[in-house]
Amino acid sequence: MKGSVDYLWIILVVIGVILIFAWKPLMGMFTGMSDKVTNKESYERGREVFYNTTIWGGEGSYKSCAMCHAPDFVPEPGKTIDMPEYKPGEPWILEDIATKYGSSLLTGDDELFNRMMQCLSSPGKMGMGRPSRNAPYMDDLIEYVKRQ
Ligand code: HEC
Repeated sequence: MKGSVDYLWIILVVIGVILIFAWKPLMGMFTGMSDKVTNKESYERGREVFYNTTIWGGEGSYKSCAMCHAPDFVPEPGKTIDMPEYKPGEPWILEDIATKYGSSLLTGDDELFNRMMQCLSSPGKMGMGRPSRNAPYMDDLIEYVKRQ
């Protein structure tokens, strides 16, 4: 009996040592998970930005990301959408974005940001100037797009 108790101690010590060394990656995993929950508000704000038809392109313009990317986008009656590449009823569904444009500590969300900027600045799409990465809505928008 006594032998098996000693054995248990060894196992506990080994687990302790593993925990000490694996603490950071493990915590990274957990914060990654809770990130999904705590960023819910940011996600919701980002969704509003994504669907917002008035913030892009200044006064009187009627443009949004959702027009080309959201299957549930419905144009307001009487409004015309004059983006050359807008195809009514044929949205380009955003999928697996986080995997495709995975962020890392070094690059952050640069790759995804740059991809979004292509849609914003392309003359066939939104035809806007390039907004700042620090624009107040940008983090939320990235958070939303990342979870598609
Ligand atoms: C006029 C239509 C249109 C608008 C408006 C538009 N996009 Fe796009 N977007 C596309 C199309 C089409 C593609 C894929 C092929 C391409 O680039 O032409 C695309 C691709 C993307 C991709 C890459 C998808 C992938 O799977 O690699 C992202 C991310 C994206 N758009 C985000 C946005 C965001 C954010 C906005 C708003 C700021 C936006 N788009 C506005 C048409 C549009």
